[in-house]
Amino acid sequence: AKLLVLNGPNLNLLGDREPGIYGRTTLAQIDGALRAGTERAGHQYDSLQSNAEHVLVDRVQAARHDGTALILINPAAFTHTSVALRDALAAVDIPFIEVHLSNPHAREPFRRHSYFSDLALGVIAGFGENSYRFALDAALAWLDSHAVSKTKPS
Ligand code: DQA
Repeated sequence: AKLLVLNGPNLNLLGDREPGIYGRTTLAQIDGALRAGTERAGHQYDSLQSNAEHVLVDRVQAARHDGTALILINPAAFTHTSVALRDALAAVDIPFIEVHLSNPHAREPFRRHSYFSDLALGVIAGFGENSYRFALDAALAWLDSHAVSKTKPS
């Protein structure tokens, strides 16, 4: 099955963006580990980071026709603002897991509301780069328990 990982605005700066909150690991390192873990489990992997809302909306819409079985998304600041991205996920009706490096509930009040959490299979937040690792574990378990066929060995 295919897992699609989406990352929202400013996550391209991971590694030197507010390292006290987001850590020193780069998005390329996180993405590489997610790809390796997904492929080791026999699934296909695709990912996209964008600072532009419409690019993420377009990618979610495309997922409807490209065999994506599950989406793992860190909407970043769009978590708290984007009805458009929420509507896209609802429209394609592909299950998704919401992930955050920080714990938005332990920060400014405006981060406490997510436009995604009520639609998500689940939310993993607050564990830094490990949030992505735990989210991948959850994604792989979900794929297994829903018996989605794996990539054929080549
Ligand atoms: C974030 C939390 C958001 O509130 C923030 O806007 C981000 C990153 C996180 O991963 O902790 O950009 O999604």
